[in-house]
Amino acid sequence: MRKPFIAGNWKMFKNTSEARAFAGEFLALYEKSDVNVAVCAPFTQLAALKEAFGTSGVKLGAQNMHFEESGAFTGEISAGMLEEIGVDYCIIGHSERRQYFAETDETVNKKLRKAFEHGIIPILCVGEVLEQRDAGKAPQVVKAQTEAAVKGLSPDQIKSLVIAYEPVWAIGTGRTATPEQANEMCGYIRKVLEDIYGDEISEEVVIQYGGSVKPDNAEEIMNMEEIDGALVGGASLKPEDFIRIVNF
Ligand code: PGA
Repeated sequence: MRKPFIAGNWKMFKNTSEARAFAGEFLALYEKSDVNVAVCAPFTQLAALKEAFGTSGVKLGAQNMHFEESGAFTGEISAGMLEEIGVDYCIIGHSERRQYFAETDETVNKKLRKAFEHGIIPILCVGEVLEQRDAGKAPQVVKAQTEAAVKGLSPDQIKSLVIAYEPVWAIGTGRTATPEQANEMCGYIRKVLEDIYGDEISEEVVIQYGGSVKPDNAEEIMNMEEIDGALVGGASLKPEDFIRIVNF
């Protein structure tokens, strides 16, 4: 059975003391429930957050990683390094990385494979840009991204995968997809997986919506049948906002 999963994506915000302060304030408001919760923080804040979250049940995520085991890749971070800290999740293929850091479907696929090798669950991001949506090509784009990303993954790996459908035009813009648009695409992604892996496997995959999820729209989004969770950017930075989304 799939559990609801709310993950925060801090992007390039918060230094270590701010991260510690967040953890303290958030944990004071947080009660463990059936909702799975994670915070995906900048690399330099992961160790401090691991300690701060302790046994609270709040999980930890990174926002990127390299696809090689180790090597001469100045400035990069490996999956093994994240594993050592005890990171549970890693966002892979976020649209900001595809847009600004030349992330491709191929590197996304390599990163997914490497993350699984290290017991890190990828949060795979897929989503179309506005031009593609307006041209009626959103399903085609999302299908191609999804198929390329999961190439060569085993059924067992797919079962634990998290996918975030994030229409690029809804990220940080305050313009959310309508719950119906989000629902439709999340259902479609499951169908794409079903066609490759069958329904028993595809039914296990947690599929989130991301893009301007806020305390005021979280409930409506989470009530949609095909949506299992949310990947939350801006509204995950304040404990009092993030807790309202977690408690949708
Ligand atoms: P947003 O970001 O909630 O600020 O729109 C979502 C994301 O980029 O994951």
